[in-house]
Amino acid sequence: MREVVQEGAAPPRVDPYADDFQQCPFPAYAQLRATAPVYEVPDQGFWMVTTMALVRQALRDPATFANSVHSGRRSEPPAEVVDEIAALRARGFPYQAALGLNDPPRHTRYRNLVTRAFMPRSLQWMDPLVASAATELVAELPTGNTVDIVESLAWPLPVYAISRILGLPDSWRRDIARWSDAATASLGSQVSADRWLEAERDMLDFQQRIVPELDRRRAKPTDDLLSNLVRPDPEHGALTNAELVWLVRELIVAGNETTTKLVTDLVLRLHDRPEEWSLLRTDPARAGSVVEEGLRLASPAQGMFRRVTAPTSLGGVELPEGAVVFLAYSSANRDETVFADPDAFDPGRPGVRQHVAFGQGIHACVGNVLARMEATAVLRELSAHVDRVQVVDPGGVRYTSSFFLRGIKRLPVVVHPRQEA
Ligand code: HEM
Repeated sequence: MREVVQEGAAPPRVDPYADDFQQCPFPAYAQLRATAPVYEVPDQGFWMVTTMALVRQALRDPATFANSVHSGRRSEPPAEVVDEIAALRARGFPYQAALGLNDPPRHTRYRNLVTRAFMPRSLQWMDPLVASAATELVAELPTGNTVDIVESLAWPLPVYAISRILGLPDSWRRDIARWSDAATASLGSQVSADRWLEAERDMLDFQQRIVPELDRRRAKPTDDLLSNLVRPDPEHGALTNAELVWLVRELIVAGNETTTKLVTDLVLRLHDRPEEWSLLRTDPARAGSVVEEGLRLASPAQGMFRRVTAPTSLGGVELPEGAVVFLAYSSANRDETVFADPDAFDPGRPGVRQHVAFGQGIHACVGNVLARMEATAVLRELSAHVDRVQVVDPGGVRYTSSFFLRGIKRLPVVVHPRQEA
């Protein structure tokens, strides 16, 4: 692999909470890759790892780079609401790490159970549920008027899909969206005291509503995902409600924000490539490569944190035990030593799937097949019905204030329906 580190050149000063970084981190990441691929972020207590080779090296060694790390991901609640938040939390099941923030052997217990439900073979039953969600939403898109594609398509799509997959009634969709928002409110961003309280109340509401559903499935299983999750694993036994509320929350959250951000980013990317819609229509297999290239460039999960369990060296930087590293997947996905012309959108590029937008190794995204299914379904459905989705103000696009989960907040578009030839 070609080495591009510029020995001796000073790295830029990166503040992950600064708006300019959150809006467009890519030039800073490129400089970090060139000057300090393992970079100690000033005043934040963590290092950023930015090249593909080093990110993969850390992911291949989960014993040294462990997931049970809680610092850095979330901002802290303001002091004036700390007691009220503690009181709300005391009314629910205490936090228990499920997949993302867990390590073997506990992680393995959850992972076996979820992997069984999310295996590509098991996923076949999800395909019509996903396709019907995409069909419904695209059919309802107003044409000729300005519409926010986030609100009308990209956000409801994964919510509709996961509600049906879990086996929850369609009337819960708004609640699912609210719970999902609550769970991600403080991820990589600072929020007000009021928002903290609202989010905690929503999380308590989620627990109180989901527990009776779990009990019902235990008494009378159906073929939905909740029924799969309450079923005991032959090797590890059954999960309790105290464990399951946190696992279900993770399944809802992990898939919603990320898929919304991917779909929105794809719409923006295809804005100035109207020909792509007819290519997608005539060659439906193309949707797969467009989704992969969209994943690489958007990297909705911009990176993940790991905790160093024993002193180690990464890219020549000594990391002490307890050090926290942020593996910047979005930077690795634009590593010029792996992807030629890395900022260009090129679904035909060699190795289009060689990205780490879903991570790698024991924590690789358990929902990747579902996410790919959702994005592909929406592209196929749109291409069948539109000539173009025109973004109203491509220059005015703003991203969420998070260095961790990056995505477009609102994307006003005009949908131009397909004119039959
Ligand atoms: C475009 C959509 C998605 C993206 C970009 C994405 C990205 C990721 C990434 C990068 C990881 C690895 C985290 C790590 O390295 O620690 C991950 C893990 C995970 N994802 Fe996704 N994800 C997406 C959709 C989904 C969906 C649809 C679901 C489920 C319904 C899901 C559920 C999970 C879960 C449960 C984990 C934790 C796995 C573990 O730690 O063992 N994701 N995802």
